[in-house]
Amino acid sequence: MTFDRALPIPPVQDGVIDEEGRRVFSLTAQEGAAELRSGFQTQTWGFNGDHLGPTLRAQPGDHVRVNVTNRLGEATSVHWHGMRLPAEMDGGPHQEVQPGGSWHPEWVIDQPAATLWYHPHPHGATEKHVYRGLAGLFLVDEAVPGLPSEYGVDDVPLIVQDKQLDGSGQLATSGSAPVGTLGETILTNGVEGAFFDATTEKVRLRLLNGSTARILTFAFDDEREFAHIATDGGLLEAPRVTGQLTLSPGERAEVVVQLAPGEDVMLQSHPTPGFWLGAPSGLSDRFDIMQIRAAPELQPADDLPDELARIDWLRADDAVTTRPMRLSNRSINGKEMDMNRIDDVILAGSTEIWTVSAADGFPHNFHIHDVQFQVLDVDGAPPAPHLRGWKDTILLEPQKEHRLIMRFGRHTNPDVPYMYHCHLLRHEDEGMMGQFVVVAPGQGAGHIDGHHH
Ligand code: C2O
Ligand code: CU
Repeated sequence: MTFDRALPIPPVQDGVIDEEGRRVFSLTAQEGAAELRSGFQTQTWGFNGDHLGPTLRAQPGDHVRVNVTNRLGEATSVHWHGMRLPAEMDGGPHQEVQPGGSWHPEWVIDQPAATLWYHPHPHGATEKHVYRGLAGLFLVDEAVPGLPSEYGVDDVPLIVQDKQLDGSGQLATSGSAPVGTLGETILTNGVEGAFFDATTEKVRLRLLNGSTARILTFAFDDEREFAHIATDGGLLEAPRVTGQLTLSPGERAEVVVQLAPGEDVMLQSHPTPGFWLGAPSGLSDRFDIMQIRAAPELQPADDLPDELARIDWLRADDAVTTRPMRLSNRSINGKEMDMNRIDDVILAGSTEIWTVSAADGFPHNFHIHDVQFQVLDVDGAPPAPHLRGWKDTILLEPQKEHRLIMRFGRHTNPDVPYMYHCHLLRHEDEGMMGQFVVVAPGQGAGHIDGHHH
């Protein structure tokens, strides 16, 4: 495998400010063909192009609107993963956009700077839509002095995904793998064998594991350390030095790597420790992901700040409810996803603890819409250092109880649910998902699918 293709940088959309002061983006889901592997044209799907989508960028407090158009031959949706917003804007399976149709969600950004992302969430077909190439980043952006911030130069988005390509370079899927489709071809921003030309001493990588099932443990070939600065929902309190970082599908992290002039270093995925059934789930695999080539002369960079953000740590004493969430086979708490069943009714603004566990021995992770949570403990022990920040998706250690604490938002709608689910997309599609509504005091669950009382 030669790393001889320049890393594509997804174009940024800052939106257009309309007469009402809204920042307006547009996304069109469409079919196309892209050179994922050198010399092959793969049939793909993309937003505003052949494959993947633009990076949307907005600031906290912005009123944003997205004009979503579906030019595919089947229904899709666009979910804003990690975003706090009203349920009817969430883009889950209850907001599908029909072929030829459009959808115009809008909301006010009410959360700190973070690397979020968007992807389809159609009922039972999320794996297919994401795997074909429908995914992009949504940056909630705020300048932090001392952090690299020039998009595509020293602040580099990196969507990492595995694919199975057949002999003619077309996307293939595996029928019955326990975790879904695992591919041997690793793409960064949509291409195999990419290199990035670094021109600065420090490079910030915004990592998204956009795979449908593969768990990645990021590290470098020379085992150098790097600074971990942000989790899914925003910056850590302080940079944390580490040599490797595991991200399961849907998780993000921001890291800063220090480079010496003229060197080449390979970003890799290393085996992920701590799981049995590792081999069939791809957990013992090792891959090269992307080469970083440092220029002979590098722009000097500031030292990283000692303090990155203030985190409002939630207190277990403030939780009004504790909900067990037990994942096994294709169900949560023994139930498979039912579009017409509301599983949980949650009071707006309340703090809750969810105790999440995976009981069947296969890898699962857990994602909750609308909230960023904190990890209180894992089987009673303090969370690993890489989990000490805002998270919306967490890899579950088998058989352990993960106590997550979260504060729900103020947007209420008894009729339109948000989702929680395993983000191994085959599992999600096959039923490992549940629905909750957020309601005002005294309100109960309403009626799904627009049948109002
Ligand atoms: Cu990224 Cu419900 O998903
Ligand atoms: Cu799962």
